[in-house]
Amino acid sequence: MLLKSIMKFMYVSFVLFYVVKCVVTQNCIPESPNQASWSKEVFPNPQTDIGRCGRDCKTSWICDPGQILSSQRADELDFFINEIANSGKCECSQCSGQDGFNISVALVPVINSVGFSDKETKAREFAEYLRKKTWNFQICGNNIVILVSRDDRQVYTDAGPLAFQSLTLDCIEEVYENVRPRFTEGHYYEGLREMIEHYRTTLENGNCNHIETTDGVVGVIVGIAFGAVFVSIVIVGMCICRRGSGSCYAANTGHYGNHHRHGGGNGGGGGFSGGGGGGCSGGGGGDGGGGGGGGF
Ligand SMILES: *[C@@H]1O[C@H](CO)[C@@H](O)[C@H](O)[C@H]1NC(C)=O
Repeated sequence: MLLKSIMKFMYVSFVLFYVVKCVVTQNCIPESPNQASWSKEVFPNPQTDIGRCGRDCKTSWICDPGQILSSQRADELDFFINEIANSGKCECSQCSGQDGFNISVALVPVINSVGFSDKETKAREFAEYLRKKTWNFQICGNNIVILVSRDDRQVYTDAGPLAFQSLTLDCIEEVYENVRPRFTEGHYYEGLREMIEHYRTTLENGNCNHIETTDGVVGVIVGIAFGAVFVSIVIVGMCICRRGSGSCYAANTGHYGNHHRHGGGNGGGGGFSGGGGGGCSGGGGGDGGGGGGGGF
């Protein structure tokens, strides 16, 4: 009986010791506030409020208090973002340690804000506030904040001045159009992953020409159609001119390919803008940064 009590006491002390040790050494107790609605002023910082971002007390680039991503998916995204942050290129003149672009992600179940602004404005204000005030992970304007508000169905990217030089408003909008279906389907990890991949390539290349937009595809198709019509007119014209010579077909096949390419090139470069659909772009953020995004 006594032995049993002693064993029990030892067991309890053992467990207690480890629990206390764990809490003291990590200095962090993961909180799951079960809070759906967040105002930008109190939204936690994943680099400092490590217990409040749904990231198991890890220092992270992602704050996801509502666990919209699974821990494993968030870890994968963190790993990828870290690669970019440590990409080795010195983006700032005085760089120490991490010297790439700092991308951070806020996943909000729903935005709580006073006033009557629409969802687009609320999302923009939230992202700008984090980037400029509470998160501000930069030394030379090399920071980017991506905000996803699940129930408001908004995604918004706000880029610091240096990042905004290559990741321009047009590029942000093009990426948004490209990845929006992922968000519509509720595949937040895939959407964010693709988005950040596009941002990395854009920041590396200094432009976003790598993105194949539907605008471009439509342009090429229209260009080819125009090219074909033009070539037909030329062939018909030549045939009329050379009627009777018998060499019409053979004489003109050589031109066909040229017109084709010409038409395609024109179409691709030409601004066939359209397909916006629910997109909303914010202007500059006052510090030379800026951003864009929209509903999904
Ligand atoms: C990226 O953010 C981290 C965390 O705030 C900071 O320590 C680091 O200096 C930043 N890197 C750059 C190049 O600004």
